[in-house]
Amino acid sequence: MSSYWIESTKHLEKEYPSLSNDIEVDVCIIGAGLVGITSAYLLSDSNLKVAVLERDNICSHVSGNSTAKITSQHNLFYDYLINSQGRNFAKGYLKANEDAKQNIKDIIEKEKIDCDFSIQDSYVYAYSEEELEDIKKEVEAVKSLDFDCELVSETPLPIKTLGAIKFSNQAQFNPRKYALALCNIAAKKGIDFYTNTIVTKIEQEDNGYIIFANDNIVHAKHVILATHYPIVNFPGFYFLKMYQSMSYVIAVDTKCDLPEGMYINSTVPTYSFRTTPYNDKKLLIIAESDHKTGEKIDLKQSYELLENKAKELYPKSEVLYRWCTEDCISLDKIPYIGDFSSIMPNLYVATGFKKWGIAFSNIASHIIVDKILGKENKYEDLFKATRLEPIKNHEELGNMIKESMYSLVINKLKISPDTLEDVGIDEGKIIEMDGKKIGVYRDKNGDCFFIKPVCAHLGCELSFNNIERTWDCPCHGSRYDIYGKVISEPAIENLEKADE
Ligand SMILES: Cc1cc2nc3c(=O)[nH]c(=O)nc-3n(C[C@H](O)[C@H](O)[C@H](O)COP(=O)(O)OP(=O)(O)OC[C@H]3O[C@@H](n4cnc5c(N)ncnc54)[C@H](O)[C@@H]3O)c2cc1C
Ligand code: FES
Repeated sequence: MSSYWIESTKHLEKEYPSLSNDIEVDVCIIGAGLVGITSAYLLSDSNLKVAVLERDNICSHVSGNSTAKITSQHNLFYDYLINSQGRNFAKGYLKANEDAKQNIKDIIEKEKIDCDFSIQDSYVYAYSEEELEDIKKEVEAVKSLDFDCELVSETPLPIKTLGAIKFSNQAQFNPRKYALALCNIAAKKGIDFYTNTIVTKIEQEDNGYIIFANDNIVHAKHVILATHYPIVNFPGFYFLKMYQSMSYVIAVDTKCDLPEGMYINSTVPTYSFRTTPYNDKKLLIIAESDHKTGEKIDLKQSYELLENKAKELYPKSEVLYRWCTEDCISLDKIPYIGDFSSIMPNLYVATGFKKWGIAFSNIASHIIVDKILGKENKYEDLFKATRLEPIKNHEELGNMIKESMYSLVINKLKISPDTLEDVGIDEGKIIEMDGKKIGVYRDKNGDCFFIKPVCAHLGCELSFNNIERTWDCPCHGSRYDIYGKVISEPAIENLEKADE
């Protein structure tokens, strides 16, 4: 299932070659999502030789599947941020996001990019008195950062609410129209884009790195890991500092006039709303967060819940598109941007955006490009990727290690009660066969596809996502299709096949 953004931009896609020879560049960017593409665009004005290597297609992963609100309102966050990091930090975080929103607007205006960009008010709303109290606290917190926000008693969307915090002058766009346009501009200025090019290994060499991709090598002085989840495990240890969380999205024809604005409620289950132009009307986009990727839960109802929500507001709603994607959440809820590790100079990372990475992709690209060009960036210190604070959060770290141990050791030792006969039509299960655990998916024709259910990243046991028909890893969120082909990092290798 493909997102509205991807479906609506198929006619704009340009063919970029896959890497078929060895090359030498100043900067190798791995990943053509918004971080990779924005970095390429910013570097296109320098004299540096730059190549972008993308596993799939341009902006076809998380950036092409998000809800694409460009906002500094990250649900209720600033009261938490002031309490956990201090007022100055919270001020910097807010200012960085406001600057990024402006930067994106400036790029769109300068390059005359047609990407359905519009300025919108953004609301976080409350269902209950308790939530309203949290919203009032957030209003106080945001005002204490000298940022103008409002407490309102109702919103233009016909939702039942006791009140909401409103940020004016936020924005939204079609992320793929924007990304494809940036790509074309950067390509015209000499940046080389390679698609269907999967990076499988990165090694340090004198004065830089060797990147292995498609049986070829790239020599680069600087490497930007714009892969969403870093594909390098050691050093860095990002797998100890982050997990991935999945959300489901629908785009709906409500058959009604829709109000402007972007909306999200303050507690789980969290529904996020926005609209987008669609022919001569608007589609309503609704996302629901969330569950940890790979969690062993029945996901069949995910889209149904969203559809019910749409019908609750607009009874004649018809779902036209549905899709899902995941994002990385750091243990302290703050992104990791900048140097990947103190012992790997000129290798950069940008991750942990906790589903607010549209503005953050711009912040990250500026920080990293400034580092490469030897310029100062006033936000660099805020999001330092090498900070140790997240792993000092013993409770969260303990939970993550406990969960990983379950998938890595305990679940693997458990014998599955199921055999091949127990796998129904259009169902995936881990079964026991000749004393071995095997992952099986039986398709609608009754054909079975077998894999070894052991994640190619660090070896955790996979679980089957019965709505997307993928094998998902509960440890760090790698995902594989029914044939075992990797579709989401951090894994870079496919799964081993298992014979019947
Ligand atoms: C449901 C949902 C809704 C969201 N809505 C919003 C929102 O409204 N506003 C907001 O600010 N943020 C939102 N986000 C978050 C935001 O979309 C992401 O944080 C951001 O798009 C991440 O961009 P990226 O460039 O890091 O990753 P991506 O867009 O995923 O790009 C990474 C690229 O790297 C490539 N890659 C990976 N491994 C390799 C490899 N080995 N070799 C070569 N290439 C590789 C991938 O194919 C991919 O194209 C949302 C997230 C989710 C999950
Ligand atoms: S994603 Fe890390 S073990 Fe699977």
